[in-house]
Amino acid sequence: MLREGLIAVVGATGAVGREALAILAERGVPASRVRALASERSHGLRVRYGETQVGVATLGERSFEGVGTAIFAADAETARRFVPAALRAGAFVVDNSSAFRADPGVPLVVPEINGPLVTPDVRLVANPNCSTTILLLALEPLRRAFGIEAIDVATYQAVSGAGLAGIDALIRETRDALAVLEREGSEIGWTLPGAGGAGGVFAEPCAFNVFSHDSAVDGATGVNGEERKMIDETRRIWNDPAIRVTPTCVRIPALRAHTQAVTATLGAPASEGGVLDALAGGRGLEIVDDRGANAFPTPRKASRRDEVLVGRVRPDPGEPPGPGGTHRRWCLLVSGDQLRKGAALNALQIAGLAGVHAMA
Ligand SMILES: NC(=O)c1ccc[n+]([C@@H]2O[C@H](COP(=O)([O-])OP(=O)(O)OC[C@H]3O[C@@H](n4cnc5c(N)ncnc54)[C@H](OP(=O)(O)O)[C@@H]3O)[C@@H](O)[C@H]2O)c1
Repeated sequence: MLREGLIAVVGATGAVGREALAILAERGVPASRVRALASERSHGLRVRYGETQVGVATLGERSFEGVGTAIFAADAETARRFVPAALRAGAFVVDNSSAFRADPGVPLVVPEINGPLVTPDVRLVANPNCSTTILLLALEPLRRAFGIEAIDVATYQAVSGAGLAGIDALIRETRDALAVLEREGSEIGWTLPGAGGAGGVFAEPCAFNVFSHDSAVDGATGVNGEERKMIDETRRIWNDPAIRVTPTCVRIPALRAHTQAVTATLGAPASEGGVLDALAGGRGLEIVDDRGANAFPTPRKASRRDEVLVGRVRPDPGEPPGPGGTHRRWCLLVSGDQLRKGAALNALQIAGLAGVHAMA
């Protein structure tokens, strides 16, 4: 239930904005309640809204008149510039960019974890980094049941994490690569022309390739921007400055949904039954864990799903079992749609919390 008034989606032509519109349409919100906003490049465009379309207007200082809820799905600079206008107009704002995530005055919220931070007086909430949301949603039941001291995580991130341009790059490069293979035949040994991203979005080719995440790498620490967000935002959302988070973030040629190989070091030893029971009770999760069929979470299974998929649950084989066959280190495979729960869905759930306050 969103607050009364119009719902503005800023960045309505982008990957996250389009997903927000799709969810609103699925939830039965009439198109007349939606104001789609983007840059002047998109002025006059129409974007899909369920079975119909809505026109896109150019974002400006006066775009928020009559708006009760504003979902920002543009870049950080645009958010810094226009969120104040939305707040002045009286809207409740959720921002998907990194602009406010480190601001101690702005809650950073995953509703299933720290939703109560959205109190009636809160007007602006930051939506966390998508990899962090997916990771923490999967681990939250284990944290509640056993505590978590450390997380080792390797990500397999979809190209749409870099927006619509990432999707376009993968489709274009895949077509080009298949054309090369077709032309050259198998004599070339199924190798493709070397380095260099064709589309300019990524510095490496994204089709038929895997590469270290495209965010900037800190020259001193070697940690890249995505990894830094996972470390800092985990500490903030769990309010646990001591937790050790060791991420390695990698981009893979999936269109959407981020996958993560996770090893969590629990605060207390747990049995396999205890871990599975805890995960089964986790909000927003679905367990996909069939050892016999070798069927586990994948980005294709997670795409367009609200739930984050969790599976391949097993104790760290390198850790000797403790009393009663219990373990402190548990390995999981997680896959979640980063455009949905990692962005648009989480933002709309936050807006829903504010809507409940407004109704009270
Ligand atoms: N993609 C993800 O998985 C993901 C997940 C979590 C958070 N996020 C964050 O969500 C935000 C949107 O990401 P995205 O992936 O959807 O990017 P995107 O596909 O590149 O879309 C960007 C959107 O921002 C709009 N925009 C850019 N400059 C603007 C301006 N000056 N005024 C108004 N609108 C402007 C664009 O409009 P035009 O089409 O008119 O240029 C477009 O609608 C980013 O902050 C990103 O970090 C993304």
